[in-house]
Amino acid sequence: MADPKHGPLLLVPIKAAIISALFFTGHCRASPGRRRLLMNSTGVVPMHMALTHLNTVVMFDQTGFGPSGYRLRRRFRGGKKCKAKGDDLTDGSCYAHSIEYDITTNSIRSLRLRSDPWCSSGSFLSNGTLIQVGGYRDGSRSIRYFQPCHHRAHCNWKQSKSSLSAQRWYATTQILPEADRAIIVGGRRAFSYEYVPKVSSRDRSHDLPFLHNTHHRENDENNLYPFLHLSSDGNLYIFANRDSILFNYRRNRVVKRFPRIPGRGARNYPSSGSSVMLPLDYEDGFRKVEVMVCGGSAPGAYEAASQGRFLKGLRTCGRMVITGKRHHWKMEKMPKPRLMCDMLILPTSQILIINGAHRGSAGWNRAADPALQPYLYRPTKAPRKRFSVLTSTRIPLMYHSTAILLPNGRVLVGGSNPNHDYTFGNVAYPTELRLQEFMPHYMDRHYHKFRASNVTVHHGGGSGIRHGEEFTVRFWLGRRSKVGVEFMAYAPPFTTHSVSMNQRMLRLRGKGMVKEVGGWVRVTVEAPQSSNLAPPGYYTLTVVNRGVPSFSHWIRFINA
Ligand SMILES: *[C@@H]1O[C@H](CO)[C@@H](O)[C@H](O)[C@H]1NC(C)=O
Ligand SMILES: *[C@@H]1O[C@H](CO)[C@@H](O)[C@H](O)[C@H]1NC(C)=O
Ligand SMILES: *[C@@H]1O[C@H](CO)[C@@H](O)[C@H](O)[C@H]1NC(C)=O
Repeated sequence: MADPKHGPLLLVPIKAAIISALFFTGHCRASPGRRRLLMNSTGVVPMHMALTHLNTVVMFDQTGFGPSGYRLRRRFRGGKKCKAKGDDLTDGSCYAHSIEYDITTNSIRSLRLRSDPWCSSGSFLSNGTLIQVGGYRDGSRSIRYFQPCHHRAHCNWKQSKSSLSAQRWYATTQILPEADRAIIVGGRRAFSYEYVPKVSSRDRSHDLPFLHNTHHRENDENNLYPFLHLSSDGNLYIFANRDSILFNYRRNRVVKRFPRIPGRGARNYPSSGSSVMLPLDYEDGFRKVEVMVCGGSAPGAYEAASQGRFLKGLRTCGRMVITGKRHHWKMEKMPKPRLMCDMLILPTSQILIINGAHRGSAGWNRAADPALQPYLYRPTKAPRKRFSVLTSTRIPLMYHSTAILLPNGRVLVGGSNPNHDYTFGNVAYPTELRLQEFMPHYMDRHYHKFRASNVTVHHGGGSGIRHGEEFTVRFWLGRRSKVGVEFMAYAPPFTTHSVSMNQRMLRLRGKGMVKEVGGWVRVTVEAPQSSNLAPPGYYTLTVVNRGVPSFSHWIRFINA
């Protein structure tokens, strides 16, 4: 439900209040949220997932280890027919390694990848095209594009003629305020950053000593897939291992060095905790930025796992305000130790922690004891009252599992595959091709009576809403109370390996509410003032009434 700061919870009728009190004290027998199986097989493990503004989800795995579970009629290299026998059965090019999932029709189609995107990264450009970079072997310097389209058969992966200046495997990408530029940071043995798309052949990598300093020299690295968050002042927050900096990428200069997060375990791959930037809020002019880092592996867990010892993961989360002058980590404990988890910001400003394991580390078959129960974290509650435990899954979601938030308020959950190949028997955690959705508490029928519907957005014309522009949001509330309506803009992430790149949520100012006849409501909403706050691109806009989100509506922010 809504945070007390925002008031609306107090107004919820007694019955709903009792229900939510039962749900959130953690003493209830039936914990909230529901799971539903969407597909028995996607054929391809969604190791990487990203929601497009046309309500489809691009999913892909790797191309280098032979067959997936999705056989093609024609091989994607050369286009020759694939026979249902002989070598073709083991030839990886007779199988899809990427698919597009359509949320509306619950169906998939195959996509063609020309190079291996295993453990790669990505961001959406301002026109909704996914730029997707790096990977393994022939894909380690690749720059790929996926431009979603209405005539689905016509769009597919395109590979750029230019390539990265360094091999980037396990790097993180963040879209920048300057239109259509993303930064790509790190990667295995890549202690540097660079920009995409490439504008000239002189567009090179820049050394980043912070990545040398946070690298564990032994086998377990622990600074891969660094956590990146674009701060409200336009600087880049980079967290790797246990340390973090605020980085002015325009000048190649470290602006701040933050204190080390307490506790002994590292947080980045293969330790693999997760991180979010908490929602930015119009009430403070979007100035205050607070990051949160949760979970990870115990020191030495990666090595121990190779000897069959699965060490208990980290139980702590740290929160730190990265703006202002004084910085310290405030630590708290999750209900249990957890690693390889995904952290998603829900439209209610709560954080969902889902997937992963209690023991071990990331890497092939290096984890045990799947974390079946998601946690809901309410950032503005009193400490110790923030976590609650949600409905379990029966499907273990281990290494190479992912989760993303959909515009219908649900969470799409796929994977995992901790095995080298697609393996369905005689292993602890077989390759999992089922696709499920998790429906958070707010999807329950009790909450329908608060849900705004038929949301439309009207703005001054052009291809999108300019920074600082006022636009109109119209929706239907019937006779429901209009107190406590909030407007949330969300940049959908590119998700892989517990890192939701580019994920950001902004609570926008709404004013001048007009009640029209028949239960319609019209509100003027203000777009964030600058591209530092909201880099140009597609966002979902969600009307949240008393902590209950509407279906989201796509909007596009463009540079003024
Ligand atoms: C999955 O398979 C089972 C068993 O064949 C079937 O009963 C069920 O309807 C299928 N579910 C979906 C979502 O396709
Ligand atoms: C989107 O932007 C990319 C990068 O600038 C460009 O290559 C592509 O053609 C654009 N797509 C559309 C539909 O404008
Ligand atoms: C809202 O939209 C639905 C589906 O498009 C429609 O059936 C319904 O009549 C609309 N509600 C109002 C109040 O117009």
